Amino acid sequence: MTGLIDLDFLKDFEENLDPKKGISKYEMNILGYGEISVVFEVREQEGIALKRIPNFKPEEVEAYIDLFHEYESLLKEAGLKLPRSDAAYVLRGDKAILYIAQERLESENVCNKVIHKIKNDEFKELFLRILNELRKVWDFNEKSVVTGTEIGIDGQISNFALKNGDLLYFDTSTPMVRRNGEHQINAEVFLRAAPPIMRTIVKRLFLQEILDRYFDFRLVVVDLLANLFKEKRKDAIPMLLDVANEFLSEFGIKNITYKEIEKYYKEDAFIWSLYLNLRKLHRFTAKIFGMRYEYFLPEKIER
Ligand SMILES: Nc1ncnc2c1ncn2[C@@H]1O[C@H](COP(=O)(O)OP(=O)(O)O)[C@@H](O)[C@H]1O
Ligand SMILES: [Mg+2]
Repeated sequence: MTGLIDLDFLKDFEENLDPKKGISKYEMNILGYGEISVVFEVREQEGIALKRIPNFKPEEVEAYIDLFHEYESLLKEAGLKLPRSDAAYVLRGDKAILYIAQERLESENVCNKVIHKIKNDEFKELFLRILNELRKVWDFNEKSVVTGTEIGIDGQISNFALKNGDLLYFDTSTPMVRRNGEHQINAEVFLRAAPPIMRTIVKRLFLQEILDRYFDFRLVVVDLLANLFKEKRKDAIPMLLDVANEFLSEFGIKNITYKEIEKYYKEDAFIWSLYLNLRKLHRFTAKIFGMRYEYFLPEKIER
């Protein structure tokens, strides 16, 4: 704990929040949306990015926080640089709401912004730096033969930021730790964010696959490259593909093709927009039937 969280403030914040309508008594400056979280800053807590993840059972949330701290220390042990952080929860009815706080990074320095104002050569260089961070994770995981502990990482460009010349990785709110091959994260929390009709499908077909891919070096790089379609830098993909393949060949990893990335992106975009649309439908029915709805949803994600 680094004391970034003011628990009294969070309690007051939660008491005065209506996620269904997206209304708070505090002015929320939304920094980003995740699959299950919303990231924002309020004037009362300036300099801090708050990530709100609802719908925990009270008995689950402390284990999740422990895993979060463990994940961050494993990433640091692997050699990655992270922003300062803290975590706490607030009880609300029979649920717990998790808050992860981080030092707020300059939005301009988050890498999916950076890539729109640099030259091709600089983009290559930044991309190589990211690959090197990912490589640290894989070097760390090599040792799991002895330790049994592996970490996963979401290498997308929007998860890294520059600060004083350092490249920081900040998407740590989904702690991906595998011990003796078993995912330590309580995936139920993610399932709960999905609309009921989708839960069984997601659970059966995707969940294991979605989690596993963060532990596979090649797939993490495919995901990073494919995400550049969404970030509107598709033009840079062929150039970066060469950089990636040269890098990966050192590890004896099979070359990635443009076609593969395109296909991956299309499938991924389909799954996530289906997911978002079903969640909106779920929110709509919750409104009609006067039920609580705990999540903040983005209106539209540009693809
Ligand atoms: N500490 C931070 N400072 C500034 N912006 C942030 C911070 N953390 C997250 N964001 C913004 O919110 C977005 C989503 O946050 P992230 O931690 O990547 O969560 P997710 O798991 O939802 O992708 C980021 O891409 C970034 O734009
Ligand atoms: Mg992210």
